[in-house]
Amino acid sequence: MLLLVILTITGCYKDNEETLYGSDCNTDNVSFSATISPLISNNCVSCHSGEWASGGIRLSNYNEISAAANSGRLVGAISHEAGFSAMPQGSSKLSDCSISQVEAWIAQGLLNN
Ligand code: HEC
Repeated sequence: MLLLVILTITGCYKDNEETLYGSDCNTDNVSFSATISPLISNNCVSCHSGEWASGGIRLSNYNEISAAANSGRLVGAISHEAGFSAMPQGSSKLSDCSISQVEAWIAQGLLNN
């Protein structure tokens, strides 16, 4: 009986561990306000806002970010694709998860949500 209880407890523990560490990159229903906007604010806006924005690319609000996304330059730059300047300039590449989330947001129709 005791053995059964122990087995049940370790069984549950394992399930929890899988949920916690399985896949923590959520690309379903990526929201502009919760995911994309903070990502761009933290990594890009320091260089890409105002009159003297680097490369003439402004990324300080939804309209500016969606324009860069529509042109293909946003993904080209953060994915370090050939033919685009690699961004964020002077810092390490964004995580694979962040890049996937940007791609998912574009694929889901650039929602301002
Ligand atoms: C330290 C300053 C700096 C940061 C931080 C930065 N950029 Fe840039 N970015 C530049 C400069 C300078 C250029 C223009 C010169 C060039 O293309 O290298 C540029 C160009 C670009 C371009 C045009 C690229 C092309 O080839 O058409 C895009 C798109 C872009 N940045 C997006 C981003 C995004 C998205 C981030 C954040 C993940 C970011 N940048 C972070 C400085 C920066």
